Amino acid sequence: MWGAATSSYQIEGDNVNSDWWEWEQAGKTKDISGEACDYWHRYASDHDLLEELGVGLFRCSIEWSRVEPRDGEFSDEAIGHYRQIFQDLKRRNIKTQVTLWWWTSPIWFQKKYGWHNKKSPEIFARYAEKMTQELGDLIDIFTTFNEPMVPLGQGFLGGIYPPGFKNPYKFWRAVNNVVAAHREAYKIIHKIKPGAPVGITYLYNWYESEGFGLLLNTINRLAQWYRIDFLGNKIKGFQDYAGVNYYRLGKIKFSWNNFKLDSANQTYFGFTIEEDRDNVMKWISYPEGLYKVLKQASAKFQVPIYITENGGPTRSGLEDNDRIEYIRQHLSFVHQAISEGVPVRGYNFWSLMDNLEWLYGYEPKFGLIEMDYETLERHPRKSFYEYAKICQNNAVEIDVKN
Ligand code: BGC
Repeated sequence: MWGAATSSYQIEGDNVNSDWWEWEQAGKTKDISGEACDYWHRYASDHDLLEELGVGLFRCSIEWSRVEPRDGEFSDEAIGHYRQIFQDLKRRNIKTQVTLWWWTSPIWFQKKYGWHNKKSPEIFARYAEKMTQELGDLIDIFTTFNEPMVPLGQGFLGGIYPPGFKNPYKFWRAVNNVVAAHREAYKIIHKIKPGAPVGITYLYNWYESEGFGLLLNTINRLAQWYRIDFLGNKIKGFQDYAGVNYYRLGKIKFSWNNFKLDSANQTYFGFTIEEDRDNVMKWISYPEGLYKVLKQASAKFQVPIYITENGGPTRSGLEDNDRIEYIRQHLSFVHQAISEGVPVRGYNFWSLMDNLEWLYGYEPKFGLIEMDYETLERHPRKSFYEYAKICQNNAVEIDVKN
């Protein structure tokens, strides 16, 4: 299945009951989300573009703080609005892959409970149950949590995402509670909608180490364990598919000049990641890594795989030849993995349109569609038309270099 991905907080706008909104107002991010792409009101014309693209799958999410603005009080209006959004996709024959928690929580949840609180799995399960009852008929594939280790690490150890703790004990509790919440939601969704696949996504970049031999290798393994295996082992038997979000190469190295803790720049007491200075987020593109990740993930998890995100940040412009190359090269490695038996069921490009890149704000552009943030006009980029050909032909032509 060919698809495109977005997330609610990054595109909807005006999510005033969310902890990220509060975080932005407190000046802890580069930009404030404000009305973002105003997808909340403009979803129908965005779906026109999705249709023009020719995707069969749309990966999106529900904003918990919108549908449950107060503890235990659900908003019929917001739920009804999501129904309209999902119905509009269905009318166009586009399947929905919906994430329940994409890094943001309602302010009341953060104040009264938080993931470190033992009641949090129960509170999340109540929300998951309600969403499955009210919207489950319009959801084809469920994702409970998007890359939970990222916001948990940054929010409970690094202190740079809400709730802003730097507390290993709270972190430990939060991870275990998110695991419990996932398992509970998994059971609930299966009970209400048997047959719908339920999973989680992992930030699954390819990491290697450079220099320092054994020590760096060990650090690399530990980092991999932290990102993937730790969570994967805990939810074994509770994932019908594995969601792989692949972006880049992380080459871990050591430098005495970086002997500090700066998790925003991925620097941990000298251990850091090599950067591509020309890239807006310093990310190193490494298409072959997707092949390596797919092989590894399928051997590890033994379940079908969805590439739930793949993409790269650029600065701007409609002539985005880099993005086209990025897509083509990555897909050639997906093809290689499939031909070697890896059960890849879907590919979602990140992202349909430019959006709020969390702490980095609106500067990095990830979209097939360029967003004019002054007028909110949408301008499909060259990559949009190229990806459309791939989706519609169900094929990509690649020059094989010898
Ligand atoms: C996240 C997205 C984010 C993207 C690009 C992913 O890890 O799921 O929310 O925008 O990466 O950084």
